[in-house]
Amino acid sequence: MKMVMAIVKPFKLDDIREALYELDIQGMTVSDVMGCGRQQGQSDADAAIRDSISFLPKTKLEVAVTDDKVDDVIKAIQDSATTGRIGDGKIFVYDLSRTVRIRTGEKDKEAL
Ligand SMILES: Nc1ncnc2c1ncn2[C@@H]1O[C@H](COP(=O)(O)OP(=O)(O)OP(=O)(O)O)[C@@H](O)[C@H]1O
Ligand SMILES: [Mg+2]
Repeated sequence: MKMVMAIVKPFKLDDIREALYELDIQGMTVSDVMGCGRQQGQSDADAAIRDSISFLPKTKLEVAVTDDKVDDVIKAIQDSATTGRIGDGKIFVYDLSRTVRIRTGEKDKEAL
């Protein structure tokens, strides 16, 4: 199993959720976060003013998936999150060692 974590533009969340739904992904966690990338938190609009580091609002998406779905999930997120502009975000993939579905006690693949 893998945990796919993506930092994306907040207004792209609905498109991403629809793309993941098409892949039959049922569970995910979404959080409001702040972040900066290579432009150090400057948007296109203030790219001319390069004097300070700041943070922009982003959405963090976490999806636990079986190994066979990782490539499709990455592609679905990338395709649905892209605008082609700076700040489109990043996808990080972690190894996931254990999962437990609390209500049923199911584990790992069965628990996703
Ligand atoms: N190396 C990193 N580690 C952790 N989070 C990161 C990293 N790079 C980017 N992020 C997160 O992703 C968000 C979006 O990053 P962003 O898309 O601006 O990356 P970038 O490398 O600057 O690419 P681009 O040039 O397309 O803007 C950041 O606001 C931050 O939350
Ligand atoms: Mg950037």
